[in-house]
Amino acid sequence: MSELNKIALKILENGKGILAADESTGTMTKRLESVNVQSTPENRILFRQTLFSAKEMSKCIGGVILYDETIKQKTIDGKSIPELLTESGSISGIKVDTGAKKMSGSPEEKITEGLDGLRERLIEYFNLGAKFTKWRGVYNISKDYPSKLSIHSNAHALARYAALAQECKMVPIVEPEVLMDGDHSANECFDKTSEVIKKCFEELNIHKVDLTGIILKPNMILAGTKSKNQISNEETAKLTIKCLRESVPNDVPGIAFLSGGQTEIQATENLNLINKFNDTKFIMSYSYGRALQQGALKHWSKNIEDVQGTQKVFDHRAKMCTLAAQGKWSKEFENI
Ligand code: 13P
Repeated sequence: MSELNKIALKILENGKGILAADESTGTMTKRLESVNVQSTPENRILFRQTLFSAKEMSKCIGGVILYDETIKQKTIDGKSIPELLTESGSISGIKVDTGAKKMSGSPEEKITEGLDGLRERLIEYFNLGAKFTKWRGVYNISKDYPSKLSIHSNAHALARYAALAQECKMVPIVEPEVLMDGDHSANECFDKTSEVIKKCFEELNIHKVDLTGIILKPNMILAGTKSKNQISNEETAKLTIKCLRESVPNDVPGIAFLSGGQTEIQATENLNLINKFNDTKFIMSYSYGRALQQGALKHWSKNIEDVQGTQKVFDHRAKMCTLAAQGKWSKEFENI
């Protein structure tokens, strides 16, 4: 087993998942302002360290994806964030892309940037304690999109990033996110997601990425949020598994879904069904941002000194997601 494979499996062992706490300062500011909290560096680290020291971290959260600002911040009592995460039994990860920008040649689509100087940044993050990394490509569905240009160029960037991350001894999370926005059907989501993922693996192979040392972070198969033809959770689970079975090489050890705007319960229920029906050899877990943090953020915003109350909300959500990652979740557990 390679070192990278061991790290990937450790992050996702026993139903553990990933907390995506890597919102850029712009996105975090939107999240904080939506609950009327001022976005200062102090408030950003206060909320995050409240989650990172919660009780269920050690049982549920195998890895945390940090943002550049966060990995360099200290807790109130002077600990580095990777140190705090190690104490909490979790592995530190880092978002290394620099964001999705307007694509030249197809200005309604986006290309993710951040390759320039990436090797040097990766070495810096490794020395700060990161053992895994994340890069997100983003695609929207409409009549003409995603275009071949976007599918190709985002896959190419993801592969160049993944090769560099492995060279620097870190596991790359490869995240091609096909967005839920729009009125497309679930079948269109299935077709486009399949095409996007297949292209990613074509490029990962060309770039000689060791597939046993990556984690794939895809979207689930859903109808667009504006579609009149929503599908059931069972259909989502079955289509998602079919898409991944047909598009992901067997060498990949684990898949960790993004929540993408689903509610906390919807993201939990869908993951649970995926695991109930999972007939592939892939571990199917979570790498949720909003679906792990929304409730905790809302609670915290009412009293940012209520560390225990906030942790209780987060602990419950993490427990539910970890049960879902083992196909053992049930709606009744939500009310306990
Ligand atoms: P969501 O789960 O909120 O979609 O965030 C996951 C993520 O990391 C998106 O890049």
